[in-house]
Amino acid sequence: MRNLLAGNWKMNGLASSLAEIDMLKELTGSATCDIVVCPPFTLIEKAAEQVRGSHIAIGAQDCHSKPSGAFTSDISASMLCDVGARFVILGHSERRAVYHESNLTVARKAAAAHGAGLTSIICVGETRAERDDGVALDVVRRQLRGSLPATATGCNTALAYEPVWAIGTGLVPTLEQIDEIHQSLRHILVQELGEEGRAVRILYGGSVKSSNAASIFDVADVNGALVGGASLKASDFAEIISAAA
Ligand code: G3P
Repeated sequence: MRNLLAGNWKMNGLASSLAEIDMLKELTGSATCDIVVCPPFTLIEKAAEQVRGSHIAIGAQDCHSKPSGAFTSDISASMLCDVGARFVILGHSERRAVYHESNLTVARKAAAAHGAGLTSIICVGETRAERDDGVALDVVRRQLRGSLPATATGCNTALAYEPVWAIGTGLVPTLEQIDEIHQSLRHILVQELGEEGRAVRILYGGSVKSSNAASIFDVADVNGALVGGASLKASDFAEIISAAA
């Protein structure tokens, strides 16, 4: 299975930041993994034009579950396709925490994304308190079962395990903790999707850097990474990508 390396720019990036994508294209020309950059909505169309015909794809960070209608400020999955996005991150912990997105909402958004032809990157992850209480596995299992739509296949879905306490903190779970969660997620994917579940890529996210990437990618069921801060600079992201390629 090819690794998938996705960069989540979050609410960062102006038109001038698009130069990083050109640089990333040059630095990763020989990469043997799939690469996606998810800039804010405002940059998607230009970024997609920039990478057309290259080995890099562009993704979004959210979409609405409905195709169109009176949903002020929202963006539908088909609108994202229309401007060249191929992927969409859904259920990021920042969306779950700040906008109270439930598993059901995430599942509906993922179904809409699949219907429009996008690949969803569905995020799950426990908080520090849940990890300390010993319920991390229960939490991510529940999130995965509730967030996976009936439309999910090995081709149109990737999963990202992002422990909330590891996001932007410099803290990273031990390799054993990552292994335990990823194995369990794989088990559920196979239960839910049958053989298709083996083809779903499970990414790790949370303070991935060039210094820890190689050891994380060595964990059996880690099939790539969802990278936040370190994806903003092409040279940093390219180093992480080279550890996976
Ligand atoms: O979606 C990626 C993210 O939440 C991880 O962020 O900055 O810890 O790599 P960061």
